[in-house]
Amino acid sequence: MTDLRVVGGDLLPPAHDRRNLLSISDLSQADVERLLATARSFARSQERDNKKLPTLRGRLVLNVFYESSTRTSSSFELAAKRLSADTMTLKSTGSSVDKGESLKDTALTLAAYDPDVIVLRHPEVGAAEYVARLTEARVVNAGDGKHQHPTQALLDLYTIREAFGRLDGLQVAIVGDVAHSRVARSLVQALGLVGADAILVGPPTLVPQGLAPTSHDIAAIADADVVYVLRMQRERMLEGANFVPSLREYTARWGITPERIRDGQRVMHPGPMNRGVEIDARVADSDAALIVDQVRSGLIVRMAVLYDLLTTGPVSVEMTVEVA
Ligand code: NCD
Repeated sequence: MTDLRVVGGDLLPPAHDRRNLLSISDLSQADVERLLATARSFARSQERDNKKLPTLRGRLVLNVFYESSTRTSSSFELAAKRLSADTMTLKSTGSSVDKGESLKDTALTLAAYDPDVIVLRHPEVGAAEYVARLTEARVVNAGDGKHQHPTQALLDLYTIREAFGRLDGLQVAIVGDVAHSRVARSLVQALGLVGADAILVGPPTLVPQGLAPTSHDIAAIADADVVYVLRMQRERMLEGANFVPSLREYTARWGITPERIRDGQRVMHPGPMNRGVEIDARVADSDAALIVDQVRSGLIVRMAVLYDLLTTGPVSVEMTVEVA
């Protein structure tokens, strides 16, 4: 990752100086508020028969996924289409190639099409920042290893605000495999930006210190407004390492069952869920669950992110929706 002198013979400036979305730390509280407000305006446009807005007509959004994805890749693709951008989704298993080389070649090849936005998911930490420095496209990090997944955190904030009418002062208990979770890292930062608190709950092997307050007692979820459940991310665990004695034991101690949820609490999960492991099917299918709402929020929040990156704000979203 050292030879970055490929664009016009010059290094591009550090990626964080440009308009990319690589990490929640790229955003201020005002940025988050603007993105959530934009998403809300787009939600109204999605209630019409004609759901397409002309806003990004003629723009090119490339979705490049080196890891499997259902929700993130489909929602970015649909978000680009709903804004009338051209879009292409490229998937790669990325398993047997030298990832550094392959990523560079792929990025340079795709850059030849002059994309406006590259949405990238890659198993290596820093991959999105690397591509941001290789190309002149705006880059959105759709997950880099266990590092960051900023649009997931934004859609989670949107979902929580819709459910509770506010974010400030709420407490979110993030339960499970925090150690391997980019979702948890982004969400903890995002909650901090909007005045909400996080507590990380799970076995000591899966809950790192230093991100947020922690507890190794499942009873600690009782005070939370939101119970945010994570799956065991086996593909990111070191081979041979045993983080839990068995899945059965994990489920018995940490699984989110109806008995462990109190009235008024809401339950979230970024997907994919392993029903019967980290979350009981009765909880996943209950009225307490916001899991389908999260998917719906994913579309409009990703529309807002694409729109925001390709306009030089501040912008009137109301006007944009009117024009449509
Ligand atoms: C998450 C991811 O890929 O980081 N999924 C998602 O984007 N909805 C969480 C996971 O893989 O467990």
